[in-house]
Amino acid sequence: MRRQRLLNATLDFRKEHIVNNLKHYKDLGLVNTREMFKKAMKGGYAVPAYNFNNMEQLQAIAIGCVESKSPVILQVSGSARKYADPTLLPHLVKGAVAMARKMGSPISIALHLDHGDSFELAKDCIDSGFSSVMLDGSHHSFDENVMLTKAVVDYAHERDVTVEGELGVLAGVEDEVSSTVSHYTKPEEVEEFVEKTGVDSLAISIGTSHGAYKFKLKPGEEVPSLRFDILKEIEKRLPGYPIVLHGASSVTPEHVALINRYGGKLESAVGIPAEQLRQAARSAVCKINIDSDGRLAMTALIRQIFAEKPAEFDPRKYLGPARGELIKMIKHKNITVLGSADHA
Ligand code: G3H
Ligand code: 13P
Ligand code: ZN
Repeated sequence: MRRQRLLNATLDFRKEHIVNNLKHYKDLGLVNTREMFKKAMKGGYAVPAYNFNNMEQLQAIAIGCVESKSPVILQVSGSARKYADPTLLPHLVKGAVAMARKMGSPISIALHLDHGDSFELAKDCIDSGFSSVMLDGSHHSFDENVMLTKAVVDYAHERDVTVEGELGVLAGVEDEVSSTVSHYTKPEEVEEFVEKTGVDSLAISIGTSHGAYKFKLKPGEEVPSLRFDILKEIEKRLPGYPIVLHGASSVTPEHVALINRYGGKLESAVGIPAEQLRQAARSAVCKINIDSDGRLAMTALIRQIFAEKPAEFDPRKYLGPARGELIKMIKHKNITVLGSADHA
């Protein structure tokens, strides 16, 4: 009996020790997004926020950003966190930071919750080492959005964690919530929202959308332009304030073609042209979210290898090249699209 009690106490201590040791993001070698955004605003570029779910994606993001000397936001949705395991995740991230330092790189790295939909989830992330969280209250009324976001801001700021809010609705899947229609952000609401909530950055809706099917184009039709007029009006109302673009994948035609060539079925997949993202990055847009492009890059290579080497069954032989393709894609984006390369 006594022995059992002692054993339980030891196990509890170990559990506490492991979890407590990773409790604050600074213990993981991470930073919040405040300084990142200040520098991005001054430098006319956007910090990339790449979503990940597993080790290979995390490795690719870290290596791609180290090699292009870019700051980076490691971005995890609620469902991705569940997939990777909430306890394992901060350890993986701590390892990625250590790997970057071992490579001799000083790049700033943040860990961010994407599309957090409740105070509890945001709090849990903050308590387990996230340096930044998003509270996506865009599907609620303005007042409810303010209330939810403000509660998260109060908790986060006490711990020096930064918070992203959202006004306006993007079409497509936003984690567990999805919308078939988009509503552009109303510029006349942004000052009141930022003032009442105290959020550190604001995601807006100006024509981007989530996923690989961003526009339904008729034959010969061009991708419509983002609503830069709305962005300009928001910048006028919130001078020097960091704006975030979600749904910003370009849906790289080469990867879509490769997927379709090797048995995939992605018909009429289309994304945001790189030049439009570059234009946004030069403005108050300080954070650009990219998930679908990473998924496409990995899937393309995996499909190709499965088709060309049907006898292969060592995961390293297909996940390795898929990771390599993702590294290439990330470097390319940082250098030519976001402009974040060489701003470590
Ligand atoms: O905006 C949503 C992100 O692409 C995350 O997607 O919930 O499938 O991880 P997910
Ligand atoms: P994409 O689907 O365009 O990659 O958008 C990702 C995103 O906004 C994550 O929050
Ligand atoms: Zn998003």
